Amino acid sequence: MREFDEQSITQAVTATLAECDDPRFTRIMTSLVSHLHDFVREVRLTESEWFTAIQFLTDVGRTCTDRRQEFILLSDTLGVSILVITLNHPAQDGSAESTVQGPFYWEGAPELPRGSNLAEGVKGEPAFYSGRVLGTDGTPLAGALLDIWSGDGEGNYDMQIPGEARMKARGRIRTDEGGRYWFRSIRPTFYPVPTDGPVGRMLRKMGRHPYRPGHIHMIVSAPGHLPVTTHLFVAGSKYLDSDAVFGMKESLVAQFERHPPGTGPDGARLETPFYTVSYDFRLKPAAAS
Ligand SMILES: [Fe+2]
Repeated sequence: MREFDEQSITQAVTATLAECDDPRFTRIMTSLVSHLHDFVREVRLTESEWFTAIQFLTDVGRTCTDRRQEFILLSDTLGVSILVITLNHPAQDGSAESTVQGPFYWEGAPELPRGSNLAEGVKGEPAFYSGRVLGTDGTPLAGALLDIWSGDGEGNYDMQIPGEARMKARGRIRTDEGGRYWFRSIRPTFYPVPTDGPVGRMLRKMGRHPYRPGHIHMIVSAPGHLPVTTHLFVAGSKYLDSDAVFGMKESLVAQFERHPPGTGPDGARLETPFYTVSYDFRLKPAAAS
């Protein structure tokens, strides 16, 4: 018979991994159990607090659907997502920095011709995006793919709009032989992460606001290079200094230049003001990883 006190329980649990044949898993679980036990001891967790935590995690799971990922939101708002990204994608070589993917990626956006308007019928101020995808040595990367998504001009993603079954403000654009890309969408605005679920309750309890600065998402990839999951942030947007998911990187802040109504870069007449923004993404060769 073995019984454990508040210290010996930790070693008793980690010792159960002795037969595990996966060294990496053993290391992760040993550390996880040790830190978790230390945390419980440190705060002297009560039974009702423990049950509240169980209920919270249960709610987070129940809130997830094929359109909503509350666990990613929890990870994002606790800074875990950006910590994992920072450890795995250290900024170096002038390559484009990574940031959070967030909970609104929808796989399978259509590949569209360069110059397409990704945000046809979407509320928001028109914005024309252009730039190049390059290697870290400056070589233009032909055939690089930008998988792009954003909310509308009011900060709502298609997935969040009840009854909206179609993709909006999403698309994939490939670079030309000179590594150039261009497309039209909207200038994204700041928006709150979803606050109607358990993570929203957590943020309110913590005394935090739920806002993210305006940004457009992209996964940029090219043959023989490491893909990067990133954003372009709108310079001057509210909440650049207090992103609720800690994803802001200065190198990803882009100037959106405002133009009066007139002829846009695509030659079409616009009756409203519009914006232009230019940004080059540099990708690391896969072999350099
Ligand atoms: Fe976003």
